[in-house]
Amino acid sequence: MPTDVRPVTIPDFSAWKTQKRRISVLTAYDFPTARLLDEAGVDCLLVGDSLGTVVHGWGTTLKVTLDQMVYHAEMVARATRRALVVADLPFLSYQVSPKQAIQSAGRLLKETDCQAVKLEGGATMAVTIRALVNAGIPVMGHVGLQPQSVRQLGGYKVQRSEDRILEDALAAADAGAFAVVLECIPARLASQITEALVVPTIGIGAGPNCDGQVLVTPDLLGLIEQFHPKFVRRYAELGPAIREAAAAYVADVAEGRFPDEAESFQ
Ligand code: KIV
Repeated sequence: MPTDVRPVTIPDFSAWKTQKRRISVLTAYDFPTARLLDEAGVDCLLVGDSLGTVVHGWGTTLKVTLDQMVYHAEMVARATRRALVVADLPFLSYQVSPKQAIQSAGRLLKETDCQAVKLEGGATMAVTIRALVNAGIPVMGHVGLQPQSVRQLGGYKVQRSEDRILEDALAAADAGAFAVVLECIPARLASQITEALVVPTIGIGAGPNCDGQVLVTPDLLGLIEQFHPKFVRRYAELGPAIREAAAAYVADVAEGRFPDEAESFQ
């Protein structure tokens, strides 16, 4: 990557909406992966609280703490030269009050070099989004399937309350969100919301007509083999590749083939 690369900014998102230039977003949780994704030209790296499931191996994102988000966001932001880095506000770090949200988001922006936060919720979070934006903190909204509400929803399901989802997306944008994630909603509804919003929509399981797309990187790389939802396209099969590489190493160690002379100091 050239050293004079221009970092992506929040105003780029609205310019790209106007230009109909599609926006690529991937999740990142650690330094080496963030560096590779940034070098590949991904526009935005999301330090998602999905790290609760794909890094920690928990069944939901509910246990993720603000300290953990700060820990991962710091690594990702330090590795990134061009992409906009957005960090998730985890469960119960912003729902209590707008003041709590500003304090939590403030920690992410002050203790890491991330440029924005993401939070789940539309109409009910509008006051909080407005308070964050007024404090100078860019916010990405997230409507449709909201994984932090999984207990309320009774599972990870396609969300079909069309009027409420449209109202949520409009409320997030009106409150000042610079982009809105649409998760697991019918493609036709996502198109309608994308037409209605002045800010970009970023879809995951929301069809092809959003302004941008986001995927969870370990899903895209084929690292989570037991989980393959309909909306995930696997661009690599790193699960089998890692298992094969580790098995070859085990065999080489067992047979005394590793290290060889070239890999040893004389
Ligand atoms: O936590 C996350 O990775 C997310 C994306 C799935 C949008 O919220």
